[in-house]
Amino acid sequence: MCARGSKEDMADLQGRIALVTGAAQGIGRAVALELARAGATLAVADINEVKLAQVAAEIEAAGGQAAPFRLDVSSQESIEAGAKAVLERFGKVEILVNNAGITRDALMMAMKRADWDLVLSINLTGPFLLTQALLRPMIKNRWGRIVNMASVVGRAGQAGQVNYAASKAGLIGLTRSLAREVASRGITVNAVAPGYIETPMTAVLDEKVSAAMLTQIPLGRRGTDLDVAQAVKFLASDAAAYITGHVLDVNGGMFMGG
Ligand code: NAI
Repeated sequence: MCARGSKEDMADLQGRIALVTGAAQGIGRAVALELARAGATLAVADINEVKLAQVAAEIEAAGGQAAPFRLDVSSQESIEAGAKAVLERFGKVEILVNNAGITRDALMMAMKRADWDLVLSINLTGPFLLTQALLRPMIKNRWGRIVNMASVVGRAGQAGQVNYAASKAGLIGLTRSLAREVASRGITVNAVAPGYIETPMTAVLDEKVSAAMLTQIPLGRRGTDLDVAQAVKFLASDAAAYITGHVLDVNGGMFMGG
């Protein structure tokens, strides 16, 4: 029996406190809205304060609870200050979704060191530092859900994305290692690996690339931000209590890895 077995809806997150990074748009926004719909109180974090405020307002307008926090995951100072501000406001973070991520694509021979560093910093070092900043209270609380936003590219590789693929593969390694470290404390750590999802990040892809990618998707369509958000909600819920160190593909069958 699960700790909250009396709940009829196993995806019920009533009363839980969740923090989502990169929540101003795209997948992060959808995750924040979906967790709020399931009853969680949301700390939404991003560098885009204008859009972030809109997301918080959208959650509140739908009857949920949310507060925006400016948090730049490329900066240790900003991560520590942001984590402190969230803990001061809500007392704890029970569900952490490390979603903020960027691409800076170029072929290996042309890739600039600065673009390697920036992608690794935001996509991998950021989740490391933010998780570290929030883990102690989560351990004390003896309940936690950490969901890291990886990518199909971290599993299958992608020409022109050595930096991005390395960051996402690294995040998967972090996920599995941390899952082993904190399992005995009631904390699960999982990753979601989206495929080709319609968001502002992929809106910049040219028509040809987009059409070529579509031919690789057995389900025959791009994913939506809601497809990904529902997977995150599941991993954050009591229904997923016995799942840890897992990478959940949300890719329409684009890559079927082991
Ligand atoms: P997006 O570009 O639409 O949104 C990313 C959000 O992260 C933006 O709100 C942006 O302001 C924020 N952000 C960027 N740098 C930040 C920083 N330093 N600190 C805090 N926030 C920052 O991207 P999308 O598509 O919603 O992607 C979200 C996550 O999903 C990323 O980690 C991405 O790598 C991953 N993903 C996306 C896929 C897709 O097809 N869209 C596929 C696989 C993974």
